[in-house]
Amino acid sequence: MTMNKPTPPRNDTFLRALMRQPTEHTPVWLMRQAGRYLPEYCETRKRAGSFMQLCKNPQMACEVTLQPLARYELDAAILFSDILTVPDAMGLGLYFAEGEGPKFERPLREEWAIRDLQAPDPYGHLKYVMDAVSEIRRALDNSVPLIGFSGSPFTLACYMIEGGASDDYRTIKTMLYNRPDLLHHILEVNTRAVIDYLNAQIECGVQAVMIFDSWGGMLSHHAYREFSLNYMNRIVAGLTREKDGHRIPVIVFTKGGGQWLEDIAASGCDAVGLDWTTDIAQARARIGDKVALQGNFDPVGLFASPEKISQEVKRIVDAYGPGNGHVFNLGHGISQFTPPENVKALVDAVHEHSRALRKA
Ligand code: CP3
Repeated sequence: MTMNKPTPPRNDTFLRALMRQPTEHTPVWLMRQAGRYLPEYCETRKRAGSFMQLCKNPQMACEVTLQPLARYELDAAILFSDILTVPDAMGLGLYFAEGEGPKFERPLREEWAIRDLQAPDPYGHLKYVMDAVSEIRRALDNSVPLIGFSGSPFTLACYMIEGGASDDYRTIKTMLYNRPDLLHHILEVNTRAVIDYLNAQIECGVQAVMIFDSWGGMLSHHAYREFSLNYMNRIVAGLTREKDGHRIPVIVFTKGGGQWLEDIAASGCDAVGLDWTTDIAQARARIGDKVALQGNFDPVGLFASPEKISQEVKRIVDAYGPGNGHVFNLGHGISQFTPPENVKALVDAVHEHSRALRKA
């Protein structure tokens, strides 16, 4: 039997940049590119009834995934879902209280509940995510690559234990200091869950994956390695790295992780995400010979004028400099109050300035 190697996307600049191969321009996509700053997203969400019903409806999840691509010349699509679908599938009862962000009905606090915790079968409760991946791949029709994602074990544990957003992470940190064995047990289960979940997304067609470690950066220097990075290392080692003859690049993003770039790059990932507090030129000097870099525009910079946005984009593109291995992105998710026309200014500026730099 002959195996046909599926053709790469027509625009594969994103995948090539992640592998530090030459591209005609610097590819760009935005964290939370499908979201509330787009009126068409708000309209679809209203039709779905709620954010979670939107996530759980593969046709509608596909529709909103494609919305930002219809408006802007983005170089990648990202699966529309949420990192908290995994603890939801573990039975914690995810809901979104209006204006308060995510919450769990049954936060993980009791030892017996922690001992009972199990990694979900990605084709069980999470099948709606896999169906969305297949649906989106079909709809994209090989135009641009599709990114899959998951939260890091530690970031998921923050929400699972705190029961929602927190300003000091008192509950999880108390467990970290007093009962590290319990926290390690949760992180073990989360690690298994994330490996299975991401490998299932890859099986269903995502062409790159990103691990969001949104809260690892609030750990002490010493605790970061033990409670966040070690588990991400194990995930990177456990992922399917090649599918149908194509490499599946892995991006690791610890928000606030600028001081640990060498350690993150040593995880075996293909690319490291940068928030906006790190100098991308210095980051490249530190780890650019090992991995690609993704970032690092301040999301609040999108409230500046289109001219200023273009200047800021040029500053970052120039700071990274000539050569390969940069994926332009925001340093964190886009704000719901962002004027949509400013996103066009950013995306077009990335393409324009990076093409000019290659000709210079
Ligand atoms: O990037 C994308 O377009 C893909 C979709 C995506 C969402 N959430 C959709 C979403 C991704 C990759 C995420 C990741 C996510 N979710 C993270 C990691 C990245 C980060 O921001 O640090 C985290 C911590 C979450 C948990 C979460 N989900 C929070 C804190 C919130 C509330 C945010 C807010 O602004 O109120 C969500 C809800 C959420 N996830 C929205 C979207 C578009 C907004 C929900 C809505 O429509 O009401």
